[in-house]
Amino acid sequence: MWELISRSPRVTEMIGEELGRLLAGGDVVSLSGSLGVGKTVFIQGVARGLEVDDPVTSPSFMIVQEYGGRCPVFHADFYRLSSYRELEGIGWDDYLRRRGVILIEWGNLFPEALPSEFLQIDINQTEPIETARLIRFEPRGGHYGAIVKELADRCGYLA
Ligand SMILES: Nc1ncnc2c1ncn2[C@@H]1O[C@H](COP(=O)(O)OP(=O)(O)OP(=O)(O)O)[C@@H](O)[C@H]1O
Ligand SMILES: [Mg+2]
Repeated sequence: MWELISRSPRVTEMIGEELGRLLAGGDVVSLSGSLGVGKTVFIQGVARGLEVDDPVTSPSFMIVQEYGGRCPVFHADFYRLSSYRELEGIGWDDYLRRRGVILIEWGNLFPEALPSEFLQIDINQTEPIETARLIRFEPRGGHYGAIVKELADRCGYLA
């Protein structure tokens, strides 16, 4: 586990970008945190680190939005999903099989959709200022442990 406090959207995006540089096809990242806390901002940084040129927005009407970067990038949002069956209906397993990078907002709502190993990121508002966010990285599995260790080395100066 590694955590740090981001004091602005710009810093949150920078940390995301650094993570994006470390990710490769097949990696899965699940983000949790209350409405409007900064999950999409973080993912916009990750997408930049994955060399996605198109603007990344909230996938409002789509459960999954696909982008082209260094590898396929899938941005999913489980917030409006009513059941796991709905995910099966859009071929979720096919997305997992396509070996892109999968970034899931509210992934914690449907844990059965996640592979056995993934990177969990929790974002919470914190003291002392309105724009402070505690970002906690919880790797599930050694592959993600190594990624978080490298991220901590690269971003430690921000912590
Ligand atoms: N330190 C910070 N990191 C990220 N965003 C911040 C920070 N401080 C303030 N903000 C603001 O919080 C908002 C975060 O919005 P964002 O859409 O990323 O949230 P979200 O977690 O994706 O919400 P939702 O659950 O609705 O998808 C933005 O308006 C952003 O400017
Ligand atoms: Mg969002």
